[in-house]
Amino acid sequence: MRLLIISRCVLLVLMTLTLTEGQRQPPIKGKLCDKSFRNPFSQVYNSERISAIRILVGSCTYDVGVCPAGTCRYNIYRHKYCPDDGIICPVEEIREVDCGLFGNRNVSYVTHCACCEDNGITVVGTVKDFSTLAPLSDMSVSIDMDEIGTTQSEGLFTTTIPATTQVVIQATDPSAEYIAAVKVIDLPATYRGTLNVEIRMIKAAPSVTVDPNVDNILSISGNPSDAEQGVAQLLLSANSITDMAGNPYTQDVQISITAPSVEDPLTDEIGQFLTSDGEALLSDGILNVNLRTVSGAPLTGEVVFRVRQGMALWLLDEATGRWTLAPTTNVNRRKRQVSLTDDLLTQINTGNWYNIDKIPGVPRCYFKARVFYQNPADAANSATFTPGVVAYTPNNERLRLYFPYTSDLDNTCFDARCLPFDPAFPNNVLARSY
Ligand SMILES: *[C@@H]1O[C@H](CO)[C@@H](O)[C@H](O)[C@H]1NC(C)=O
Repeated sequence: MRLLIISRCVLLVLMTLTLTEGQRQPPIKGKLCDKSFRNPFSQVYNSERISAIRILVGSCTYDVGVCPAGTCRYNIYRHKYCPDDGIICPVEEIREVDCGLFGNRNVSYVTHCACCEDNGITVVGTVKDFSTLAPLSDMSVSIDMDEIGTTQSEGLFTTTIPATTQVVIQATDPSAEYIAAVKVIDLPATYRGTLNVEIRMIKAAPSVTVDPNVDNILSISGNPSDAEQGVAQLLLSANSITDMAGNPYTQDVQISITAPSVEDPLTDEIGQFLTSDGEALLSDGILNVNLRTVSGAPLTGEVVFRVRQGMALWLLDEATGRWTLAPTTNVNRRKRQVSLTDDLLTQINTGNWYNIDKIPGVPRCYFKARVFYQNPADAANSATFTPGVVAYTPNNERLRLYFPYTSDLDNTCFDARCLPFDPAFPNNVLARSY
C-alpha cells in the first residue's frame, strides 16, 4: 500500500551515489569547423585537453582526456575562427591500449579540443508496446508539444532540436488503442549530438459497459468491476454522463480504467513524479479513464474519485510531464472507520492521466548526499546528470525519488518526505529534519 509508505517513510539506503562511466554523458562531437586548435594549445585560446585517467580493466589505466565544457561564443579571441554559436568539443581517435594480462582494450582518446558548430540534439527514438516491446508504427510523436510526425514501421522517429536541458516527448495513438505516453529526459547543459530514446506505450485496459442511468462504483485497479480491489474507487452517479456538447447521455457507456502499477519503473513514460513546483510525489495510484459511447465517441461527465483521507487528485500536464492539481470539490467526507473517506468530484477528461497522491500535511525532511564520480579523474568533467534514488521501506516496498539534474557534484541537498527522526531506529533515516 503506497499510503503506508507515505506515512512511514523511512529510508534505509545510505545516500552515497556513485556514478559509473556508462551513465555519464559526455558532449558529443558535432560538425567540425575549418579551424581547430591542436595540442600544444596556445595560451591565448586556452581550450586545453584535460587529462582524465580512466580505469580500463583491473589496474590498467589510460589517460583518455576530456575537454572543458562550454560554448565558444563568449570569447571571440579564444575561438575566433569558429562560428559564433560554436561549442567546445573533443576530437577523438580510437587507440588500442595494451593492458598486459588483461589483453588489449580499445578506447576513445581525446587528441585535442576544437570548436564545433552547435548542431543541437538529434533525437532518435523508438516507440514500443509497454509489455511486449513490439515496435509501434503510426504513433504520433511530439516534442515539447510540437508534432514531429508519426513513427515508421520499426516504431522509429527522428528529429533535430536545439540544445536544451530537458526534452519532453509525447507519443499518442491516433487509434486510441494505446494511451498517451509523456517521457521527460533531463540532460546536462553541455549535451549535444544524438539522444537515443525508447518510449513504451501502455495499452488501454479493456472496457466494461455501464448503464449511466444508475449509480456505478468501479475500482481503480486491474479489475474495475470488483469494487473491493485497489486503493481508490470511481463513482459514476446516475445521470452524470454527458456527451461532449454537454447533453445528458443515457445509452450504454464503455468505460476503460487503465491503472498501471506505480511500482513499475516503466511508469517513467507517465511523466516525472513531481509537481510543477518540483515537489516529489509518491503515488497511491495512477490511472487513465476513457469514457466512450459504444461506437467509440468520447464522453465526459462529473465523476467522483473515492480516495483515502487527505489524498488529492493530480492531472498529468502533457507539456511539462509534471503533475498539476486537478480541480475537485470534496463533496463528502465519510466516517474514519471506512478506509476510503474522501469523495473528490471532478469533470473527467477522457484520455488524461490522473494520479491519486498526497503532499499536504506530510512531514518533510531533508537529506544530504554527496554525489561523485566513481573515477575521481572524471571529476574534472563538468557533465551533469539526474540522480534518481531507489530506497526501500521496512516492508520492502520500493520508493522512487526524482530530482532535477544537478551540476553541483559536491554538496547537493535533496528533499524527501519522511517521518521525524525516531531514536528507536536511528539508522533507518537518512537525516533529521532541519
Ligand atoms: C580495436 O579496434 C580495431 C579497429 O576497429 C580492431 O581491429 C581491433 O581488433 C580492436 N581491438 C580490440 C581489443 O577490441
